[in-house]
Amino acid sequence: MLAILISGRGSNMQALVEAGLPVSAVISNRADAAGLEFARSRKIATAVVEHRRFPSREAFDDALAKEIDRHKPRLVALAGFMRVLTPRFVNHYERRLLNIHPSLLPAFTGLDTHARALATGVKLHGCTVHFVTAELDSGPIVIQAAVRVRTGEKAEELAARVLRQEHVIYPRAARWFLDDKLVIQNGLVRVKGDDAQLVMAAD
Ligand code: GRF
Repeated sequence: MLAILISGRGSNMQALVEAGLPVSAVISNRADAAGLEFARSRKIATAVVEHRRFPSREAFDDALAKEIDRHKPRLVALAGFMRVLTPRFVNHYERRLLNIHPSLLPAFTGLDTHARALATGVKLHGCTVHFVTAELDSGPIVIQAAVRVRTGEKAEELAARVLRQEHVIYPRAARWFLDDKLVIQNGLVRVKGDDAQLVMAAD
């Protein structure tokens, strides 16, 4: 089973659900996260742990962990969850916490990745699923999808093409995890059976 943490739209969460993965709960730090509606419509347990109600990051993370653990997930997937997590939280879920980031890490950590990629003139962009470590947008890389940057393309167009690939690679990574196919060794992830850890987008 996996628990999914969201803050907004929740299209990656939706992709995980629609891929048939066993989702035990969808948890948001915002009551108005649009994705909650979809989860409810699929009869998936939802919960809101509002970060604003807590005096510190530590207090919020503890409450969040408590809620997650109630559902006893093997895997926790961050899917557009817009909070920086404390080292204590990250350590609690060591090796079972995944994130999706809209760039080819280690390039473009942080926000506004698509506009920054265009401004830099890179010819290849994409997205990454990685295990979460205490450092932001770092951690062992599970799978990446690469998208060719088009001349004159706008950030929104590039974002939409990358998002389509996010919806391909996140379910794949979560499935590998739940099937016990992922091995982390010296900070590198290997997939048992040598399934491809790179997707080259066709468009
Ligand atoms: C995605 O681009 C994801 O990579 C990033 O935040 C966005 C969330 O989108 N971490 P959604 O809520 O999954 O639609």
